[in-house]
Amino acid sequence: MSEEKMEYVVENKPILVSLKAGKKYAWCTCKYSKTQPYCDGSHKGTDMLPMIFKADKDEDVLLCACKATKSGPYCDGAHNNLEDVYGEASEEEVLSMKNSVLVEQDNGKALVNGGAYVLTPLAENDQVAGTVRYQPVIAEQDGATKLSLHKLTISPGTTPWLEYKGVDTILYFVSGSGKVDIAGTEFDVSKEAGIYVRPGEAFRIITDQDMVIYATACPMITELSVSDENDTKFQSDYAERYVAFDLATASVMADRFYQELVDKKVKSMEVTQFIGQLPKSRAAMHRHLYEEAIVILTGYGRMWTGTKWAEVKTGDVLFLPHRQEHSVECTDDDGMLLMGVFYPSGSPAINY
Ligand code: FES
Repeated sequence: MSEEKMEYVVENKPILVSLKAGKKYAWCTCKYSKTQPYCDGSHKGTDMLPMIFKADKDEDVLLCACKATKSGPYCDGAHNNLEDVYGEASEEEVLSMKNSVLVEQDNGKALVNGGAYVLTPLAENDQVAGTVRYQPVIAEQDGATKLSLHKLTISPGTTPWLEYKGVDTILYFVSGSGKVDIAGTEFDVSKEAGIYVRPGEAFRIITDQDMVIYATACPMITELSVSDENDTKFQSDYAERYVAFDLATASVMADRFYQELVDKKVKSMEVTQFIGQLPKSRAAMHRHLYEEAIVILTGYGRMWTGTKWAEVKTGDVLFLPHRQEHSVECTDDDGMLLMGVFYPSGSPAINY
């Protein structure tokens, strides 16, 4: 092997490729290929072989280019741990954003760029049904195509039955505690936790406290049905529904952490919910292949998208269409805690 061939060709983020159904691909594992992420034969003379895989369907995917993934050929987010600091914005990137424009909110909404919003739920937009006040924060009119998000403000008592008919519902409990009754089966719930309500199930909240809950419906449906009667059945084949935040099981990603709450472990196959913590920092611009809603649970900072930015603070909701370039900057010395929900499911660490 020549000296030139011994040079590793790696990047610290994945490569977006379009796969064709039924076609075979050879993913480079030796790191020498000059046609990353694919093999160009440069492994000859080493004991490495490319990984051959076949695409099941036409699909855009992120193939690992750092070669640290444990889910080859696909990126699993491991590139975020290759440096001490998670994808921090470089000095050049910060300088290039110097002339970015601040977008202010109008009636609780700032359209930052390319369909990305910073939204502040305003109490005056609430509808009331018994002990629940509710409002859509992310809806079809905001350009959402995969998911919607409601804020539910609960007073002591028992709410009517609520249902996003026929779709997955993911709840996140911001404050207070009580019970969630899913179609006749009750779960004790408290803050910093999520629960999965399956399509075809209605739910209600029973509490002696004030509670704030965010509800995501996926695929996207903006209408929340409210009824005094429940005619749905709990799907007992899927008994595990509730996942609480637990720092001991969180994934550490350089100088931050995240934990997936509702995801495949409770059989939510389409949507992933997570809670994450950011230190005072500014992430490099990046994209995800999924559509995402983020709720700022504590802290403040800025959301950057291309040439524009908006201020974000506790209680704000961010909406990011898939492939929207963005960066969240935390300017709070105490860091920022956030909850995210995205479709299609996966890992919040996978970005490009
Ligand atoms: S590029 Fe290797 S894990 Fe993401």
